[in-house]
Amino acid sequence: MELKINGQPMAVPPERRQDSLLQVLREPLGLAGAKLGCGAGQCGACTVLVDGEATRSCLLPVAAVSGREVTTIEGLAQGSTLHPLQRAWLDEAVAQCGYCQAGQIMGALALLRIKARPSDAEIDEALSAHLCRCGTQKRIRRAVRRVAGSAV
Ligand code: FES
Ligand code: FES
Repeated sequence: MELKINGQPMAVPPERRQDSLLQVLREPLGLAGAKLGCGAGQCGACTVLVDGEATRSCLLPVAAVSGREVTTIEGLAQGSTLHPLQRAWLDEAVAQCGYCQAGQIMGALALLRIKARPSDAEIDEALSAHLCRCGTQKRIRRAVRRVAGSAV
């Protein structure tokens, strides 16, 4: 089975074909940005894009994304140039422990691609199912506002 991750073909070893997308991303593929939080589809730490849609990878069988476009946080920067959302996250000093942040950024990216200038209520709604025990939600909102209207 072959996956398309961040524009690159990647092979899934036969013995890992029953695993979740998150398990395969983190090991053996070595893409550790998406995190295992709840493992139950509730926290958003494992969020990646599948065909552009914010998707929880912890419960998604890897076989379900065969032939589909998967984008992880590692696929956002262009070489040494950060993606505008990553830049905004730094400018607003959003992250605390950081555990939830890759999922938050992927959720924000999916939102901005369907709504270039979301209202605060729309930002809150889109990210409400992304839990952050460090209380970064206000800074996340400011970071998303910084990028609103830009091509992402
Ligand atoms: Fe996937 Fe929590 S680890 S939603
Ligand atoms: Fe720590 Fe969100 S920054 S859980």
